[in-house]
Amino acid sequence: MRDGYQGTGPGAITPDGCAVELYSRLPVGNEPEVIAAAVPAAAHILELGSGVGRVTHALLERGFTVTAVDESAEMLERVRGARTICSSIEDLALGETFDVVLLASFLVHNGDIEVRRRMLRACAQHVAKGGCVLIQREGQDYHTNVPRERVDPSGFTVRIVSAEPVGDGVHSVRAEYDFPDAAWTQTFRSRPLSRDQFEEALAEAGLRVERYLTEDRVWVRAVSATE
Ligand SMILES: C[S@@+](CC[C@H](N)C(=O)[O-])C[C@H]1O[C@@H](n2cnc3c(N)ncnc32)[C@H](O)[C@@H]1O
Repeated sequence: MRDGYQGTGPGAITPDGCAVELYSRLPVGNEPEVIAAAVPAAAHILELGSGVGRVTHALLERGFTVTAVDESAEMLERVRGARTICSSIEDLALGETFDVVLLASFLVHNGDIEVRRRMLRACAQHVAKGGCVLIQREGQDYHTNVPRERVDPSGFTVRIVSAEPVGDGVHSVRAEYDFPDAAWTQTFRSRPLSRDQFEEALAEAGLRVERYLTEDRVWVRAVSATE
């Protein structure tokens, strides 16, 4: 397990506390729609932290080619129709570039600044000239509007129970997922980033925000700082 990360519930748990069975059940949201509107049709997408392919599969259905990266082999075993690569994002060095690099699921908020730096460098190193990096960052009230809960129409409840400071600007966040027949929890480290801090982190990696894709500035289209 990564330090400060933990998960409970049935089935395999990844080093960052995610449950494979849980992610196999979670429905896809608006991610494919946001992504498809921001990139060229039929683009080759390098998806970092793909999990079981919740978003991957919807992207494949829309005609994209996807290379899915995750550090959990158990997650990747469930990905269908995409090339899979089992690696940590921060150590990724494929020696090839892609039209689009996708870093979703708030992974850019990793509590460890060095890990975040290496992740963003991996994004910059794997994006083709003229391509883009799509990043999903946390909403503004993610750490302050707690506890909060959402009942999904498909029949489960997701709850962000707490976001407690653990030093150095990092929070320990606890999430709970309740289904009628099973329950999972995930505890993970997250570093809140203001818009300026986020843009500085990108700049360090040689990236710049080209535009925010959604009104809440959660989805970002970044490009190489030299383009
Ligand atoms: C919250 S899940 C989201 C999965 C998928 N993006 C989705 O939206 O369904 C995070 C995934 O990223 C993977 N992950 C987290 N940190 C990682 C890292 N540093 N390198 C590689 N994979 C990572 C985990 O193993 C897990 O499968």
